[in-house]
Amino acid sequence: MLSSQHIRTQFLKFFEEKNHTIVPSSSLVPHEDPTLLFTNAGMNQFKDIFLGHEKRPYTKAASSQKCVRAGGKHNDLENVGYTARHHTFFEMLGNFSFGDYFKKEAINYAWELLTEIYAIPKDKLLVTVYKDDTEAYDIWANDIGLPAKKIIKIGDNKGSKFASDNFWMMGDTGPCGPCSEIFYDHGEAIEGGPPGSKNEDGDRFIEIWNLVFMQYNRDEKGKMHLLPKPSVDTGMGLERITAVLQNVHSNYDIDIFSSLIKEAAKLNKNTPISHPSLRVLSDHIRATSFLIGDGVMPANESRGYVLRRIIRRAIRHGYKLGIRVPFFYKLVEPLSKVMGSAFNFSKERKQIIIDEIHLEEQNFFETIENGMAILDKAIDELKLNKKSEISGQVAFKLHDTYGFPLDLTADVCRENNIKINTKEFDSAMAKQKNMARSAGNFKAKVSIDYNGPNTIFLGYENTSATAKLVHILKNDKSVENLKEKEKGILILDQTPFYAESGGQIGDKGIIITEKK
Ligand code: GLY
Repeated sequence: MLSSQHIRTQFLKFFEEKNHTIVPSSSLVPHEDPTLLFTNAGMNQFKDIFLGHEKRPYTKAASSQKCVRAGGKHNDLENVGYTARHHTFFEMLGNFSFGDYFKKEAINYAWELLTEIYAIPKDKLLVTVYKDDTEAYDIWANDIGLPAKKIIKIGDNKGSKFASDNFWMMGDTGPCGPCSEIFYDHGEAIEGGPPGSKNEDGDRFIEIWNLVFMQYNRDEKGKMHLLPKPSVDTGMGLERITAVLQNVHSNYDIDIFSSLIKEAAKLNKNTPISHPSLRVLSDHIRATSFLIGDGVMPANESRGYVLRRIIRRAIRHGYKLGIRVPFFYKLVEPLSKVMGSAFNFSKERKQIIIDEIHLEEQNFFETIENGMAILDKAIDELKLNKKSEISGQVAFKLHDTYGFPLDLTADVCRENNIKINTKEFDSAMAKQKNMARSAGNFKAKVSIDYNGPNTIFLGYENTSATAKLVHILKNDKSVENLKEKEKGILILDQTPFYAESGGQIGDKGIIITEKK
């Protein structure tokens, strides 16, 4: 059986032999690109080359790119654990042409690799093309020799040329173009119809490779501008092609996931290997570790909040398995082994990954018990009353007081066929924000005897820090010192402690001085 590591190497070697430069994966945090939350495709690091803003010494490249599709335009978080193929983190194999070759070569390369190097039987493959793309159609029909029934034209019928499935965009703006997708037929035993049919969402025909013919740059207003040169951007999920080559149907049965699932099952001796929560853990440990490895830390906003949601979702699934103490960090070690060269963090980085997860777990385990009790009670009551919608206020309380992100509550509710009243949730959130604003105004009017510089807040990145004590207040008045056991306010030049404000509970912790 070919290992996923071998499949990755074969891909890169194939394109190296076709004179492509092998470019290492870029970070999951896109470099100077505010339009993207996380790297979500192999082409991200080449965006400026496609746009003609940057030149490199090569015009053909190939890579195996770390990607996260959680939050942002491509968001798969809520489906992980429920389907055979959704992941928050995955590796995307891709070849790229920057104004070098175009459709003919891209299609021929893909076919050669799949049918000759990976030796996939030709009759197991079928393709889609954008409905107006006669050029791509003709290449599949005449060069490759695919019969007409295996070339499916896809396009929207709503009059918008750019809203169809076979038109790929990395985000709302940026390089994009029509695409041709290659599908693998997992066989009659599996339910599902070919792309474009009523049953296309079934699991039988699975897209394995997307060949994007980059031709446009989409601006903020949705207007398409021609790129300086027609280019190629392809993406093939390593996990999907591995499933095909390892002859399994679900991505979770490939070598990477099955070994992580075995490790996760050991965390709690009674867990059967088929338990869906193990799939969630095996997926989430990848996104978590690689995000922290690339410098994202759990936080209350932006990227850090997506990471926090992933970790908390994982903790909840561990909790569901009966685990009541931090456990998730223990999966980092097995992950580093199974990912081979893709896990290229130093020993020190690896330790930071382990420590950050452990800390996040310790914090969340303090509240999960109470939060779950409230949620379980609310769900039981709904079931008793034959209702199927939980109130937005309950979801908000869970978010605000117990640190349950909305999608975590939704995950539990989904298991119980219950929906959340998100309108109520949004209005509770808006109300709290207004309260926070007025609390802020009020606080600004309270005078304390301190006019020094603001304290720098480090808590989005760090949970401990060294700080200078700049001022001491007792009963809102400046003092030189506090006596033993006396209460007061210490003002520091910087702090990882989040201050109590707008309904958020302030952080608790210890301050240690050099003098005891
Ligand atoms: N950039 C091609 C894809 O992600 O499918």
